[in-house]
Amino acid sequence: MRRRNPCSYLNRRLQIVASLTTFILFSILFLGTTSEDNPYLSKVPYGPQIRQGTTKVVGRLPSIPKELPHVHVNTAQWLNRLDPFQAPAHSPPPADQPDSREGDISWHTDWHWMNPFSTVVTQDERAVLPPLKPRPPVYTYFDAGGRSRDERSRKAEQEVLEIWRRAWWAQGFKPVVLSRSEAMNHPKYKYIKDLKLEADMELELLRWLAWASMGTGILCNWLAVPMAHYEEPLLHFLRAGEYSQMTRYDGLEGGLYVGTKEQVEQVLEMALRSTLITTAQFMYQLTPEDTFHIEPNHDGVAFYSSKTIKTLYKSIDSQLTFADTRGDGLTMLPALINSHLHLTWQNSFPKGIAVLKPLAQNTTYMIDPAIDIARNLSTCTASPITTSCPPNRPNCSPCVSRTPMIITTPPIYRNDSAQFLIGTVPHPYTLQSLIHNKEDLDVRFIRRKTSRDSWVMAATRELLGAGISSFSRLASLKDAVASEHGISRSLWLTAEEPVYLRTEKDLQELDWIFGFRIPRHPMKDGKSETPVPGPERRPPPPKQDFDGPKPDEKQLLQQMLLGEKAQDMIKKSERHGGQKSLILLRNAVEAWNMADTEVWKFVRAFNARRLVERQKWQKEEDAYLGKGLYDRWKETLSG
Ligand SMILES: *[C@@H]1O[C@H](CO)[C@@H](O)[C@H](O)[C@H]1NC(C)=O
Ligand SMILES: *[C@@H]1O[C@H](CO)[C@@H](O)[C@H](O)[C@H]1NC(C)=O
Ligand SMILES: *[C@@H]1O[C@H](CO)[C@@H](O)[C@H](O)[C@H]1NC(C)=O
Repeated sequence: MRRRNPCSYLNRRLQIVASLTTFILFSILFLGTTSEDNPYLSKVPYGPQIRQGTTKVVGRLPSIPKELPHVHVNTAQWLNRLDPFQAPAHSPPPADQPDSREGDISWHTDWHWMNPFSTVVTQDERAVLPPLKPRPPVYTYFDAGGRSRDERSRKAEQEVLEIWRRAWWAQGFKPVVLSRSEAMNHPKYKYIKDLKLEADMELELLRWLAWASMGTGILCNWLAVPMAHYEEPLLHFLRAGEYSQMTRYDGLEGGLYVGTKEQVEQVLEMALRSTLITTAQFMYQLTPEDTFHIEPNHDGVAFYSSKTIKTLYKSIDSQLTFADTRGDGLTMLPALINSHLHLTWQNSFPKGIAVLKPLAQNTTYMIDPAIDIARNLSTCTASPITTSCPPNRPNCSPCVSRTPMIITTPPIYRNDSAQFLIGTVPHPYTLQSLIHNKEDLDVRFIRRKTSRDSWVMAATRELLGAGISSFSRLASLKDAVASEHGISRSLWLTAEEPVYLRTEKDLQELDWIFGFRIPRHPMKDGKSETPVPGPERRPPPPKQDFDGPKPDEKQLLQQMLLGEKAQDMIKKSERHGGQKSLILLRNAVEAWNMADTEVWKFVRAFNARRLVERQKWQKEEDAYLGKGLYDRWKETLSG
């Protein structure tokens, strides 16, 4: 029997598919034609439906902040872009932005990110992401120079600084640890040194000098951490970065100040002229009463000052008091603060964690990494004082391992603020090979046997009703991933590259997203010297929901094999350096499942950018390592 050359067969087919898809897409999007007799159109929504969807989407474009007067979204103008006679194809694709690539993943930042399809904006494979929110700096001053300390205290202080940085970073800030070097940059440094003040007062003044030499921002004690949900009003205010008044916070002593550079200089000026400078302890005691606005109502920041520890955490305080147990006391602090951060996060989601699981018959294996993260998040973090509450939330409900956070596996996306969501988005190739239990998909099979955008249609079934096109559902999903509301309430993964789960380093990256160390090691001997009552007990895997019979062992194994095959295929068909025939096949699958592909690309790019942003910052911070004359906080790590 004569064999046909599969390549020539493929090529011709593919050409037809590609041109047909392009043509159909343009017809639908721009002309709104409906032709009943075209077999490829019978399954996709008609023009008017999509028009309606587009208008809705445009109505939902994010409002543009006032501080950016040069950017404005004009709905009519934007709609014009969809007009075929405006020749959109003639404008060149926007240029590459800095730091917008990570391996094969590339993205473009634009206010039009809610546009259902990124290609409309970028005209290439780049995904369009919302602009990164600028991170206002939070400064802390750490100077351990003079004090004589033992090794354990140094280590504990270093851990607290790491917790401090992680917590503020996760809340959208840029934490900066200042040292004596910054204070020395200020012209008044020598003058203050010559005053020969008490150590405490000198520290307070140097702290302000360091702040003044950096400029406008937030000055925060390194024992003060944000302890609230992302959208808590104080954190929201601090993130906005506009500080009109020199402010301190009632009950936080000298733990938190905000102000502009001019105001900081003024306060310093006044303080240095004060006669109380030899007796006072805090800056605000040296200045006239109306210098600081005192904010009475706030509960977003927890300050573990010695006063707080004395009243709330007596067992730590009793050890801190004596020189020979001071190290033990300090060693308990990092674990205490970390457990409170985790607890506060858990308390923000009274309805627990939802692990999204559409098409449940086929996706059990796929959501395994998400379940793993969810279980670890619902584990109770060990704390040196079990069932203690953070200083700013005395009425917390402590984590009890007998009744851990609930984990559910809903088949559809629901917008519920009381629940944290972990979503796993598969590439359409992965999903179709799972649904059809078939490891080698080809173009013919895809076109004849598979329905379009299965994942988006299934995941958003409830959200918008069954009648609406997959295209208009895209905006809601993108909103769920990347909006202010979504960022703090969800974590999204792609099924093929669980970016966060490869190595211990990846797992630490997750900690930076959540702002605390996620429990992931069953307590080991010698690892923690903290007296921990009872082990951290990891809750069992949740009972999962299925929309049909539960898959048996054999089917689960099959899912795993198919998943790995698909992962391999995705890797081998990357645009840069992939195999040509596989790239063509992947393009065909992606063209057939445009909405599924769009969400997948969006989530992948969103995660990659988040990683790049943090690692770039980490690199900048590392540049200071060991550069300071006095001990930079990092040096305490190396001993
Ligand atoms: C996917 O689900 C269908 C039933 O909906 C089942 O027939 C098929 O075997 C499943 N495939 C895998 C790989 O589990
Ligand atoms: C979810 O609800 C909030 C308000 O409760 C809203 O701001 C947000 O846009 C909604 N997200 C989606 C994806 O519908
Ligand atoms: C979850 O915890 C287990 C050990 O309890 C660990 O093996 C796994 O890597 C952790 N996963 C994540 C995502 O933290």
